[in-house]
Amino acid sequence: MKILAGNSNGPIAEAIAAYLGEPLTKCHVRRFADLEIFVEILENVRGRDAFIIQSTSYPTNDNLMELLIMIDALRRASAQRITAVMPYFGYARQDRKSASRSPISAKLVANLITRAGADRVLTVDLHAGQIQGFFDIPTDNLFSAPTMVRDIQAREAVADVMVVSPDVGGVVRARALAKRLDAPLAIVDKRRERAGESEVMNIIGDVRGRNCILLDDIVDSGGTLCNAADALLDKGALSVSAYITHGVLSGGAVARIAASKLKELVLTDTIAATEAVRVARNIRVISIAPLVGEAIARIVKEESVSVLFD
Ligand code: R5P
Repeated sequence: MKILAGNSNGPIAEAIAAYLGEPLTKCHVRRFADLEIFVEILENVRGRDAFIIQSTSYPTNDNLMELLIMIDALRRASAQRITAVMPYFGYARQDRKSASRSPISAKLVANLITRAGADRVLTVDLHAGQIQGFFDIPTDNLFSAPTMVRDIQAREAVADVMVVSPDVGGVVRARALAKRLDAPLAIVDKRRERAGESEVMNIIGDVRGRNCILLDDIVDSGGTLCNAADALLDKGALSVSAYITHGVLSGGAVARIAASKLKELVLTDTIAATEAVRVARNIRVISIAPLVGEAIARIVKEESVSVLFD
């Protein structure tokens, strides 16, 4: 096995390597003066099972290009199998034609990764499970829910908990978490009037006296989350926390969340935490490195990965 890391998320790459008891393969992923990317793998990888750990988070295009060039370098160095390990798969939200003459960027990215030479993809909480079908190579989509459930059970009085989907699109994900926690489910009926803005319209379910847990795959501007928290508290919720897999957190999102009524936002480490996230009063990060590490170990040994879904 060879584990390589791009520049997008060093901490999770280190944690995954530590879980596996393997050192990260020495390689340079650098910029030329004109910012073109240059990759040099400093160890023999011929015939090896190679895993590149790279989230395509901000700066998305640079991180994607690093991934593609690393795949190319491994292929030309005769790695036997190349797995793109993408804890966060960027461009996933553009997964269908949302308007006439618009792209399906998630499919384009899948094509790029495949054509670069990846043999497999390993990712976490894809925005839409169907994106697996954009690849014609094996694609494992891990779920952070079991890790979140353990954290919730260790911290919350589960009897009072209500799981809330912040929009209609997230109901399947939220329902699955509610089932794992044996908790009821509510739904925020969110209407987005303009791109980049969100507005809460209605709450489906009685949240009075409940400790609400919002569940989502992505927090970007934080608008969805903060508006949902306000609406739930207006309807009589005791408290509102959130569990979100991918902390994209663009622009002033961290400040917005810190200033919100959210008791706590729990993120996973699929995207490296910025300093602002680390010091935010109500943001905590839990690691899914053991989950990804165990999946890699199982892929190497040709064992089942689906046991990690429970
Ligand atoms: C949307 O479909 C996603 O699941 C998230 O709800 C969305 O990306 C959150 O965006 P924001 O934080 O900008 O409201």
